Amino acid sequence: MSNMNKTMIVANWKMHLNAHEASLLVHRLDDRIKIHRDVEVVLAPSMLSLQPLSLQIDRRKFRLAAQTANEHDQGAFTGEVSFTMLHDLVHYVIIGHSERRIYFHETFEVVRDKVAAAVRNKITPILCVGETHVERKNGETKQVLHDQLVTALSNLTTEEVENVVIAYEPVWAISTFGGELAKPSQISEAVDLIRSQIRELYGERVAASVRVLYGGSVDDHTISGYLEVPGINGALVGAASLNYHKFSAIIDAAYRLHHKVKEG
Ligand code: 13P
Repeated sequence: MSNMNKTMIVANWKMHLNAHEASLLVHRLDDRIKIHRDVEVVLAPSMLSLQPLSLQIDRRKFRLAAQTANEHDQGAFTGEVSFTMLHDLVHYVIIGHSERRIYFHETFEVVRDKVAAAVRNKITPILCVGETHVERKNGETKQVLHDQLVTALSNLTTEEVENVVIAYEPVWAISTFGGELAKPSQISEAVDLIRSQIRELYGERVAASVRVLYGGSVDDHTISGYLEVPGINGALVGAASLNYHKFSAIIDAAYRLHHKVKEG
């Protein structure tokens, strides 16, 4: 089954849970989540928990993602971890999350270099793009998405772009930045912009096959509505992914919807 035909649900645990707590949450999720061939569940714990969780997880159920890494493969960069070091541990890495752009001043160029470093080390980037409240109010959403995408992907080949996962996360919809609920029409419009940008730069085939996730206040109540937005292939979940009831309910909803769509 191609990646495109699966629903992808990513848990971004951000800077929560020590290694023991992370392990406990995986135990609980493991009890509740069945093996779904057509739902891909990805966990993004803190850097510290990646190694122990890589030994603990049932790989038929879960894949791991890092939340960031350094764009250099090695060197005198005190405190940093490179993609080269993560190569055997993770399938994915979240790059360009708005918290990294805002709190850690990651520029478009740093995001571009991280995307290239991930691909160079055979790790699939989950590239986050999205406008702030002010940018939306000023009618700049299209330009912001364009600039974020064009720069971030500029060092990749067409084949490499096809494999990238793009997460549309409007900053104003993230629970800790305001948590306004995005309307399906707003998401659909943004996804169309993203795919048409990709189409212009890399052609129809890539635009149709690149996976696009939605992120921003996704929980067990909102997930179905978001997954029904045309062009959306999954979700990037923050706060609700720390709660095993909510997160396993999200996976169940994704599974039910996937089958409803396929059968209907
Ligand atoms: P919330 O789901 O808490 O809004 O966070 C979204 C997010 O930032 C996921 O990366």
